[in-house]
Amino acid sequence: MENSFDVAIIGGGINGTSIAYQLSKMGRKVIIIEKDQLACQASSAAAGMLAAQAEIEQDGPLFQLALKSQAMFPAITSELYEYSGIDIEYVNKGMFKIAETEAIANEVKMQVAFQRKWDPAIKWLDAKELQEMEPSLSPNVVGAMYLPNDGHVQPTKLTEAFAKAAVYFGAEIRENTEVLSFIFENGQVKGVKTTQGIIHSEQVVIATGAWAAKLMRESGLDISVYPVKGECFSIKTDKPIINTTIFSDKRCYLVPKRNGEIYIGATMVEHTFDNKVTPEGIATLIERASQLVPEIKEAAWERVWSGIRPQTADGLPYLGEHPHWKGLFVASGHFRNGILLSPITGKLVADLLAGRLLDESLLSAFQLERHKETIGLGG
Ligand code: FAD
Ligand code: GLY
Repeated sequence: MENSFDVAIIGGGINGTSIAYQLSKMGRKVIIIEKDQLACQASSAAAGMLAAQAEIEQDGPLFQLALKSQAMFPAITSELYEYSGIDIEYVNKGMFKIAETEAIANEVKMQVAFQRKWDPAIKWLDAKELQEMEPSLSPNVVGAMYLPNDGHVQPTKLTEAFAKAAVYFGAEIRENTEVLSFIFENGQVKGVKTTQGIIHSEQVVIATGAWAAKLMRESGLDISVYPVKGECFSIKTDKPIINTTIFSDKRCYLVPKRNGEIYIGATMVEHTFDNKVTPEGIATLIERASQLVPEIKEAAWERVWSGIRPQTADGLPYLGEHPHWKGLFVASGHFRNGILLSPITGKLVADLLAGRLLDESLLSAFQLERHKETIGLGG
């Protein structure tokens, strides 16, 4: 078995596979090391929304990164189909960010003014206009921000497509293999110790989502990446009841998928890796979602699931090189937007590793040193 690679990527979620794809395409010899199976954690639990404008309400480095990544989806969809044969089910039918009260309507209208700077097609719709476009929406809804260019994908398929396209360009995938620690020599990473033996590599990427803090501790840093569980369920109806994604707030959204399912999510339970789905979580979602679209109560039940989002102390992902160990990189902490951010994460992190990153300022807000005082680097 080959055990020497140019780059070892730890974690077979959306971010590890996206980075692997970009690096393999450049001709680097890459391995993805996954403790269980590809896409077995957050990356298969996501709703797949590409909701830069609905999820991020202020301008800043994360918002700009999200807009760039969102714009990459049409091209990445066809590229991945060409190299993997997998259709990632990109749907581009827009989103409504709903206001259920007059007070929320005022806030959402301010958001419309802000978001139109980036996309002039975004507009406010009053209750009547909204009913004409989505007749199944409750008449109690006051209005909504309409984002006609918003979309979503099938996240498991996107992860599989990145992985398969990486393999097409020569990457190796090793599942059921947990990375336990690193091998360091003279300030340089030399490889990783795994449950299946040593893998040698002078570049290593920690793309382990909510589990990143554990391996970071192995490298001497105390960075805060903590788990936030999200529970979801899905339904099916004989004929489509909604065409557009309905996003009420960060605790309830309905996403009509291409296979006829409507994904309904998601709860937010902080500081737990226990991914059980609770009756209370699902009952709350049914209550919230049926206030928006009453018909969902008569739909056919499909399934429930959950996943663990990787959150950080300041809400920004970590994308950069370790301050002590040359060759060790981190790409973790994408919280609610890891699917949206996956194309740009793959591209920028791959460029960084390959020494091809033309504009380093794109990553400066996400580097590990931003928490000097808290991660063991001194004040
Ligand atoms: P993960 O997918 O968690 O992958 C990390 C991988 O690392 C895992 O497979 C794990 O087994 C592996 N691993 C961990 N430790 C080790 C080790 N020591 N050795 C080897 N392997 C290891 N994002 C959006 O953009 N849009 C959405 O609509 C959306 N909806 C969401 C809904 C829910 C309910 C949840 C939970 C998340 C949602 N997200 C969404 C967020 C998104 O799912 C995550 O940000 C993203 O999947 C994180 O991807 P990742 O690759 O960083 O982590
Ligand atoms: N972005 C949706 C979620 O994390 O639930």
